[in-house]
Amino acid sequence: MGKTYKSFEIREMTAALGAEVVGLDITSKLSKSALIEINQAWLEHQVLFFRDQPLTPEQHVNFTKNFGELQGPGYMPTLDGFPNVYVQEYPDLYKGIVSDVDWHIDASFMKKPLKGAVLHALKVPATGGDTAWVNLYKAYDLLSKPMQKLCSNLTAVHDNFYKNLANVLDNYGAQGYEIARKATPPSVHPLVCKHPETGKKCLFYSELMVSHFNELNDEENKVIKEFLVNHIKKPELYCRFKWENDSVAFWDNRCTAHKGIFDFGQQHRLMHRVAIQGATKPKK
Ligand SMILES: [Fe+2]
Repeated sequence: MGKTYKSFEIREMTAALGAEVVGLDITSKLSKSALIEINQAWLEHQVLFFRDQPLTPEQHVNFTKNFGELQGPGYMPTLDGFPNVYVQEYPDLYKGIVSDVDWHIDASFMKKPLKGAVLHALKVPATGGDTAWVNLYKAYDLLSKPMQKLCSNLTAVHDNFYKNLANVLDNYGAQGYEIARKATPPSVHPLVCKHPETGKKCLFYSELMVSHFNELNDEENKVIKEFLVNHIKKPELYCRFKWENDSVAFWDNRCTAHKGIFDFGQQHRLMHRVAIQGATKPKK
């Protein structure tokens, strides 16, 4: 059982992570005390969920900027007049550069990956299209001591094109790839990182972006990556969220990984995402 808060009620999603915030209207301006409590609950539960929040793009931006500087426009389409609001519209997005089928940490290829993000569902299919988040603190804690030690000695190359190269070349050609590659070069991060605010250790691993560990040979890389993917997707480490129209998820990108579940075929699904820039490089 976690802390209790004065501004809202908390309903934990799973024993691993995630909590629904009940009794708070995030479309309106929030008091300082409510914002402090949201930040505390966010650090505690890692992902917060809100239902029935018909955020306008402006309200979405205003809510998110309470928690840091916003990510500017990048390689994904943004909403006209709102350069911080990324539009994720399916089935169109299936053809794009971005793929979030695999477990990933948003923009982990950046030197300072995103701090967090607020995702708002505007139109979702009646079933399908859930998102799952994994607790990367727990992923570290559940490893045996010798495995923790090994992981603590590894640095991972996070490459935006590790799994997406063929898709990018097919859709944008070699020249498009060259431009995208220059805009998003890979970064190296320790596999075990300390969260800059909680000080807790987590397993900063992305199935989608980690091409290899610098310290291992090819054979070892293959085995360790397979082990880590199987490890982080254990049911006791994650929560799965069923979206409704006007549901909102707000996650800490420094201690969670997530994955979209693409089981809704060609149905229409429209999401808006506003993200918070990372303030620090991941550190041991
Ligand atoms: Fe993502």
